[in-house]
Amino acid sequence: MSDRAFGRLLVTGGAGFIGSELVRQVMARRDGTRITVLDKLTYAGNRANLAAVEEDPEQAARFAFVHGDIADPAAVDPLVADADAVLNVAAETHVDRSILDPEAFLRTGVIGVHILLEAVRAEAAKDRIIRFLQVSTDEVYGDIPDGHSVETDPLAPRSPYAAAKASSELLIGAYHITYGLDVVMTRGSNTYGPHQHPEKLIPLFTTNALAGEPLPMYGDGMQVRDWLHVSDHAAGIDFVLRHGASGEAYNVAGAKLLPNRDVIGLLLEAAGRDWSLVRTVPDRPGHDRRYAMDGSKLAALGWVPRVAFEDGLPATVAWYRQHPEWVASARSGDWHGYYERQYGARLAAGRPVERQAEAG
Ligand code: NAD
Ligand code: DAU
Repeated sequence: MSDRAFGRLLVTGGAGFIGSELVRQVMARRDGTRITVLDKLTYAGNRANLAAVEEDPEQAARFAFVHGDIADPAAVDPLVADADAVLNVAAETHVDRSILDPEAFLRTGVIGVHILLEAVRAEAAKDRIIRFLQVSTDEVYGDIPDGHSVETDPLAPRSPYAAAKASSELLIGAYHITYGLDVVMTRGSNTYGPHQHPEKLIPLFTTNALAGEPLPMYGDGMQVRDWLHVSDHAAGIDFVLRHGASGEAYNVAGAKLLPNRDVIGLLLEAAGRDWSLVRTVPDRPGHDRRYAMDGSKLAALGWVPRVAFEDGLPATVAWYRQHPEWVASARSGDWHGYYERQYGARLAAGRPVERQAEAG
C-alpha cells in the first residue's frame, strides 16, 4: 500500500464544517505540511472555525487563507500552481436549499470543479502532477431500500444537490481517463459534530431543543442515515489522499445506521428535553428513505471510523450548549428568511408526535 506525502495542500471550502476539521487535524500533526484554504465564505463558511490554526504561531506560519470562489480561474490558477494536492471540500451542501434554489449548487458543484480540474490539467501539461481529491457523498447512490452501496454501483442521484455531486464525479472520472489526471474521490456518509451549520438535522434539532423551540421532523421520521463523526470523516479524507489508488472512489461509511426518530430520541435525552417539542411536518420532496454504504474497500486499506455515535452525539450536543456565540453567528444574516421559507408553512401544518415509534 502506498503512503504518499504532500507538502503543500490547497483545501477548498476549508472554513466549513468538514473542511475546517480536516485543516485542524492536518495542522495539529505539526509535520511541516503547509495548507492554503480557498473559501468563498458563503453563509456556511466561518473563519472562526479556523481560529485554532490561525491563533497558534507554529501552525499559522504554515497556513494561508484566501477569500475566493472555486469557480473563478483568477483565484484558482495561482493557488493550484503552488500546491502538491488539491482537496476539493467546497460545495453548497444542504439538500433542502438545493430544492428551494438549485443554481448555486451547479455553479459551485459542477463549474467550480471544472475550473479546478482545468488548473490541475494546466500544471500536468508542464509535467507537474498534482493529486486532486474530490469530497463526494453517499447521496450519489440515491435511495437504497436495502443492502449497502459499493463503489462500483451506478450513480442514481435524486435531489439537485446529489445530482450536482454526481455530475462532478463524472467530470472528474472523465479527466482521469482523458487527460490522465491523478484523482481520488471519497463518498462520505451523514456527518455530525462540532461546527456544523444549524440547518442540518442534528445541529438544527440540538439548537432548537436547547432553545425550547419546535423540532420539525419530516414525515414519519423513519428515514435511515448512517452517522459518521466529523473527526472520522476528515481522517478518512486524509487517509484516501495518502493511500487511495488513482482514479478510484472510496466509501467513507459511518459508524451507525439509524432512523431519524432514534437520532431525535437520543438527542432529546442529551439535551434534557422530551418529545413534546417534536412536530411531524410535510416531508421533503423526493426524500431518500435510506442511505447505507459498505465500507470494506477502505477498511481493506486499513481505515475504519473510531467514534461511536453513542459517545459522539452527546458530546456534540454539549458543544452546541457551550458555544452560544458560534450558534448566534451561524443563525445571523439570512437565517430567519431561510427558516421561514423552509419551515413557516410546514410548522403551521405540523402535528405533535405523541411518543417515539418503534424503530423499523
Ligand atoms: P459546509 O456547508 O459546512 O461548508 C462548505 C464550505 O464551502 C463553506 O465554508 C463555504 O463557504 C465553502 N464554499 C461554498 N461554495 C464555495 C465556492 N464556490 N468557492 C469556495 N468555497 C465555497 O459543508 P460540509 O458539510 O463541511 O461539506 C463539505 C463537503 O463534504 C461537501 O463537498 C459535501 O458535499 C461533502 N459531504 C458532506 C457531508 C455532510 O454530512 N455534511 C457528507 C458527505 C459529504
Ligand atoms: O448523506 C450525506 C449527506 O448528508 C451530505 O452529502 C449532505 O451534504 C448533508 O447535508 C446530509 O444530507 P441529508 O439530507 O441526509 O442531511 P440533513 O441533515 O438535511 O437531513 C438528515 C435527515 O433528517 C433526512 O432524512 C431529513 C431529515 N430532516 C432534516 C431536517 C433539516 C428532518 O426530518 N427535519 C429537518 O428539519
